[in-house]
Amino acid sequence: MPPVRDVVVLVGSLRRASWTRRIAVALAKLAPPSLKLEIVEIGELPLYNQDFDDEHRIPAQWQAFRDRVARADAVLFATPEYNRSVPGVLKNAIDVGSRPPRAGALNNKPAAVVSVSPGALAAFGANQHLRQSLVFLNMPTLQQPEVYLGGVASLVDADGNIIKEETKKFLVSFLESFAAWIEKVR
Ligand code: FNR
Repeated sequence: MPPVRDVVVLVGSLRRASWTRRIAVALAKLAPPSLKLEIVEIGELPLYNQDFDDEHRIPAQWQAFRDRVARADAVLFATPEYNRSVPGVLKNAIDVGSRPPRAGALNNKPAAVVSVSPGALAAFGANQHLRQSLVFLNMPTLQQPEVYLGGVASLVDADGNIIKEETKKFLVSFLESFAAWIEKVR
């Protein structure tokens, strides 16, 4: 039996009926036995303020988040696109998880990116902006397959079941690639 890797999923939307969250739920269901995906909530993280780090006044929510991410084997980012970039809530979680410099919980963790939009451009801008931050954090990020899910309203139902067989197959192959990538870079 291969070891089971613990993957934290960070979802860049707080919306109740979020398409991105539905995709994250779908990915958790489709994951191979060697990957356990868990959505870790980021909506209650206080906005990043460097004074809290510099003055050693770490908010409890930051500490819990940093501890959870530090325990994980890998991180999967599921992001919608706001104004051709990453929503602030996800950027805030990245900033919180990135400190102290070069030793933050996110630093060096294997990662993958999934971008989601009801629109045709599939949140390409958010996906690429996010990758820029992951370079700085030295997170070895799966390059292929890239996952851009456009027209998401026709891809997933409210319970996080993928409707289109072709999309399901693609996401399963993506998850298998991610599992192999995690083993390779560990
Ligand atoms: C959007 N939306 C959007 N869509 C897109 O494809 N590119 C974009 O740049 C933007 N910009 C944007 C800004 C803001 C502030 C909002 C609220 C929305 C639309 C967006 O894709 C849509 O609301 C999705 O449903 C958001 O993802 P969730 O919440 O469904 O996961």
